[in-house]
Amino acid sequence: MASQSIQFRCVTCDAVAPKWVGRCPSCAAWNSLEEQPRKAAERPGRIPGKSPAPCDVPVRLSDIDSDAAEPIPTGIGELDRVLGGGIVPSSVTLLAGEPGIGKSTLVLQMLASCARKGVASLLVSAEESPEQVHRRARRLGLVEDGIWITSATGTEAIAAAVEKLQPGVTVVDSIQTVASPDVASPAGSVAQVRVVAQELAETARSAGSALVLIGHVTKEGSIAGPRVLEHLVDSVLSFEGDRHHSLRMLRAVKHRFGAVGEMAMWEMTSAGLGEVTDPARMMLADRHTGLPGSAIFVAMEGRRPLMVEVQALVASSPAGISRRAASGYDHGRLAQVLAVLERRVDLSFAGRDVYVSAAGGVRLDDPGADLAVAMALVSSLSSRVVDDRLVVVGEIGLGGELRSVTHTAIRLGEAARHGFTRAVTARGAEPVEGITLWTPATVSEALDRGLRNVSAPARLVAI
Ligand code: TYD
Ligand code: MG
Repeated sequence: MASQSIQFRCVTCDAVAPKWVGRCPSCAAWNSLEEQPRKAAERPGRIPGKSPAPCDVPVRLSDIDSDAAEPIPTGIGELDRVLGGGIVPSSVTLLAGEPGIGKSTLVLQMLASCARKGVASLLVSAEESPEQVHRRARRLGLVEDGIWITSATGTEAIAAAVEKLQPGVTVVDSIQTVASPDVASPAGSVAQVRVVAQELAETARSAGSALVLIGHVTKEGSIAGPRVLEHLVDSVLSFEGDRHHSLRMLRAVKHRFGAVGEMAMWEMTSAGLGEVTDPARMMLADRHTGLPGSAIFVAMEGRRPLMVEVQALVASSPAGISRRAASGYDHGRLAQVLAVLERRVDLSFAGRDVYVSAAGGVRLDDPGADLAVAMALVSSLSSRVVDDRLVVVGEIGLGGELRSVTHTAIRLGEAARHGFTRAVTARGAEPVEGITLWTPATVSEALDRGLRNVSAPARLVAI
């Protein structure tokens, strides 16, 4: 029988096996299993990633003082909203995003703001030298006494620094560049990232420091590190945006201390991340009215409405193989909308390339975007335009029926504030001042209503 104190971990896929085998049972890589001590937290009967409770003897729930875990506001309003008030002492947060999106800038702004509120911090800058960080901080006016910095890349050195400084917040930039001496594989490998996160979390918890781990995510979302970390951390914040656009969004995709779904927005400027006071103006700034292939949708991001231009382009496929590409909108959802248009509205996209994009680098998770996507697609296909004062909100069912979405009053109120006067949405939407509401039952009727210059007969045909 294998020893309880050792185990074998695959350096390729991070799977764990109780005994050595030549080929990993999980990913089929050869000779990839490495012996390692089984950590106390990983022995059967323990929850992985959790440090042992300070007291193994049961205590009364009513006797526990949880005030110590009250969130500390970072002073950056948008960030505090996503975090549900602030950063929780001893918690572990993963800040994940593509390289170059602005993670280091965001944490520097956060630490400077914390320092001004009297919360000292340690920035483990394993990617950039302290001089580079200082230059950036000086340029952005963020050099504060309360920020300590080290470029240590080993978990032992980082633990020593945390124990000595006892910072309120510790940031590790990035988890992929830090290594633990207990693991033979290189920094950034799945095995390293996992052990590093566990060791740093234990260090930070015992020092009462909130730990923020920065993790790079690739475009495809396949990450050596962050994905395996999600269940080890308390919160996962996803920092998103299109690098060619200035808009940046932060979403809580997991949050043990509050609600998920809230989104923060910033604008990346030459002076760092700045507040976006009027997101609609920014989102609609590049819009050209009167062109086919564009429809305006009002998404809900947490409790906030966000106006988004949905663009579509339908072009003939030169090679006989039709391309379907979506940016900021789910591919499966696009396929479904196209199928409904084909079967329920009699429109054919065969032999045509289809491109759909949510402008401004926004990701549309809201099913209410379906009708705007359909409207933009048919607008491009038929070279008709969507009225420029019209907003389109609705989910499309497989039967071609329009399904109601939540928060229509908030969505249409936002549209009215920005000069929109008409809306096409599903039945059941409450009237909103300043908006003429059309509530058709089907996508076919909605298209007839929403697209300008639709001549009789009422049904649209592809041209
Ligand atoms: P950075 O925070 O280094 O990204 P990450 O840590 O996610 O890799 O930011 C990188 C980009 O942000 C870089 O391409 C330049 C841009 N940027 C600005 O536009 N303005 C600024 O004030 C700063 C600091 C960066
Ligand atoms: Mg960085």
